Amino acid sequence: MKKFEISTTHPYNICIGSNIMPNSGTLISEVLEPCKIAIITDTNVNSLYSQVFLTSLIESGFEVSKIIFPAGEHSKNLNTYGNVLEALADEGISRSDAIASLGGGVVGDISGFAAATYMRGIKFLQIPTSYISAIDASVGGKTGINLLSGKNLAGAFWQPSLVICDTKVFETLPPEQIMEGVAEAMKLGICFDSNLIPRIIDRDYPYIIERAVSIKKYIVEADELDVGLRQMLNFGHTIGHCIEKASAYSIPHGVAVAKGMAAEAKACAAMGLTSVDVYEKISSILTEATFDLSIDFDASELYQYALLDKKISHGKIAITVTDQIGQSHLEKISLSQLKLFFESAF
Ligand SMILES: NC(=O)c1ccc[n+]([C@@H]2O[C@H](COP(=O)([O-])OP(=O)(O)OC[C@H]3O[C@@H](n4cnc5c(N)ncnc54)[C@H](O)[C@@H]3O)[C@@H](O)[C@H]2O)c1
Repeated sequence: MKKFEISTTHPYNICIGSNIMPNSGTLISEVLEPCKIAIITDTNVNSLYSQVFLTSLIESGFEVSKIIFPAGEHSKNLNTYGNVLEALADEGISRSDAIASLGGGVVGDISGFAAATYMRGIKFLQIPTSYISAIDASVGGKTGINLLSGKNLAGAFWQPSLVICDTKVFETLPPEQIMEGVAEAMKLGICFDSNLIPRIIDRDYPYIIERAVSIKKYIVEADELDVGLRQMLNFGHTIGHCIEKASAYSIPHGVAVAKGMAAEAKACAAMGLTSVDVYEKISSILTEATFDLSIDFDASELYQYALLDKKISHGKIAITVTDQIGQSHLEKISLSQLKLFFESAF
């Protein structure tokens, strides 16, 4: 097992290893006094992993309760969030107790937001079980829910006390969920570390998770509140989020981000911010990883959705420009340049 310390305002460790979930109770007892822990999970993960996790907590002397909601992005809303808060109160969870998120990014985002707001904030543990939550969602303290107007529009920064990432649980992930993680891992490879790309293709999970976490550690420690460097992680997301919205979320996030990465690189090349060669390399890396990069929406429709992007500040938005594979920088552009950016991406 490897441990990474994340030195944010509230520092915490990320433990990564294969088959470490049965040892969760011991790891958690190193950071929490004996207390009640409310496990929050979804219907799929509950049937696969909650028993082993719960048993481990009980063996380490924690009192445990469980809150389950239906699996899927459609649960990431005010209704589920409200139900979770009510269930925490019904279970008698107090300010000295904790929430453990057991699941993918949806479970992590809802549980984290509940932890940030229940009784004005209680302790929180992340046990990511999807590839995307292991490399991205469980690290860095972003929590939240979707509103009818768009994704992640309500939320909070709330750092966990501990993250336990058991890579063995990826064995039960459906192939489309693996591709979700591949897209986000490719983003890190393209923006920060070209050596990561062949390891992603080889599905070398322990290496990928450790490298992804160390990249995200560097970024989150430098910019915990997402006002500068951290915005580089939005590569592919400016256009990707619009594609998700235009498809009424029928195109999965990672697939949309892969399309978004190729389209944003094409726009950067057309606007003279990077070379055509870099755009072609990005396209070929993503195509080799089996992503379909075609986009069936027109630029003007997608641009309208981009105007709701919460990264827009003072009439400008930062976009990530890849200088070469493994190296990138942020460029702030105005909304009129953003329109051109969308037009150039197709
Ligand atoms: N907070 C952040 O920094 C951050 C970063 C990236 C993504 N996100 C959010 O994460 C969400 C996407 O994450 P996700 O894809 O993990 O979503 P998810 O939680 O819906 O999980 C995807 C599916 O995989 C299932 N699953 C999870 N682990 C499993 C396992 N080990 N075996 C079998 N099935 C398993 C789930 O039940 C679900 O059906 C989005 O809402 C996105 O906005 C947040």
